[in-house]
Amino acid sequence: MFLTVVPAHFGGPGLVQGSDVSGVVVKIGEGVTRARPARVSRLFANRLQFKPGDRVAGTFRSGAFAEYASYPELSTFHIPGTLTFEEACTIPLGLTTAAMGIYRRLGYSLDTPISEPKSIVVWGASGSVGQYAVQLAKLVGLRVIGVAGAGAPVAKISGCDVVVDYRQGQTLAQIKQVLGDEQLQHGFDAVSENHTTSQLASLISPSTKDAKVVMVLHPHEPLPTHIQYPQTSVFSIYGEEVRHGPNVVPAMPEDTEFAKRFFPALEGWLREGGKIIPNKITIVEGGLEGVPEGFRRMREKEVSGEKLVFRIAETPGVEAH
Ligand SMILES: NC(=O)c1ccc[n+]([C@@H]2O[C@H](COP(=O)([O-])OP(=O)(O)OC[C@H]3O[C@@H](n4cnc5c(N)ncnc54)[C@H](OP(=O)(O)O)[C@@H]3O)[C@@H](O)[C@H]2O)c1
Repeated sequence: MFLTVVPAHFGGPGLVQGSDVSGVVVKIGEGVTRARPARVSRLFANRLQFKPGDRVAGTFRSGAFAEYASYPELSTFHIPGTLTFEEACTIPLGLTTAAMGIYRRLGYSLDTPISEPKSIVVWGASGSVGQYAVQLAKLVGLRVIGVAGAGAPVAKISGCDVVVDYRQGQTLAQIKQVLGDEQLQHGFDAVSENHTTSQLASLISPSTKDAKVVMVLHPHEPLPTHIQYPQTSVFSIYGEEVRHGPNVVPAMPEDTEFAKRFFPALEGWLREGGKIIPNKITIVEGGLEGVPEGFRRMREKEVSGEKLVFRIAETPGVEAH
């Protein structure tokens, strides 16, 4: 069930790190169920089927930092001509992580928006996952209160109704003021470190039923027990347990079934345009040789409201075909 995708540009031997990829399908693997048979003309083809030459993006555990990547059809999707490869590769992991949180862990419907007014707090609304969580929460019909710092303008562009700047030191008081009498039930913590989860949890009353705060990392601090803290991860869709370090993400068959509906829906949103805004991109020069520089910028907190993108073909020694 794998497609072979050339990440946007291609060349000689490559590495196997990296999750997000965009590029052109060069080969369809054995067992791909959505392969377009050669005899079916483009006119009658199912637009969800894959064939060599298709422009796609996708996410997987590894393999993106290479000229050729072998990706599962489940988490690979077509991208419209209106999106550049660089924009498209900001979408897969961040958006899917957000989607698993909003739809699977919090239980909102992919098809039917909510009918009653309701708020959600997205902590880290300017990060990659956070921006997509905001966008999906808006598609669901929620009022979004975002928490961000330097990336506050990006959080606003993503659709936050209100953005609270955590650097001002009045975060909880400001959110409570925005909530007014509303009893908060759901939070999405797209940071999940430096006590962001306990702060978000403190906004939820012990009398709130089915209270949940979605986390993107494992908890690192004691948290109030009247709230559930489901973790979101794209790894649960692949039908096998995934271990990273001491942490285990179990296979969740219902997540797999959801993914089969989600990626086609995403293709539709991207075709329609305007529903999903890709992260703002910053190209790091030097292709894969730029990765250490990317880490340096992140370590020194120079990256805010943007996604660093590496063009494989710019890697010294790699020849573009
Ligand atoms: N579970 C999974 O499967 C999964 C998948 C993807 C990512 N992740 C994890 O999710 C986390 C976020 O990933 P990402 O790619 O979205 O990161 P990112 O794009 O680098 O965004 C991180 C953002 O967090 C914001 N931030 C930092 N401290 C904050 C605070 N105290 N309050 C509010 N915002 C704060 C910063 O925003 P400002 O610049 O505005 O301050 C920063 O831009 C990472 O730890 C990543 O490893 C998990």
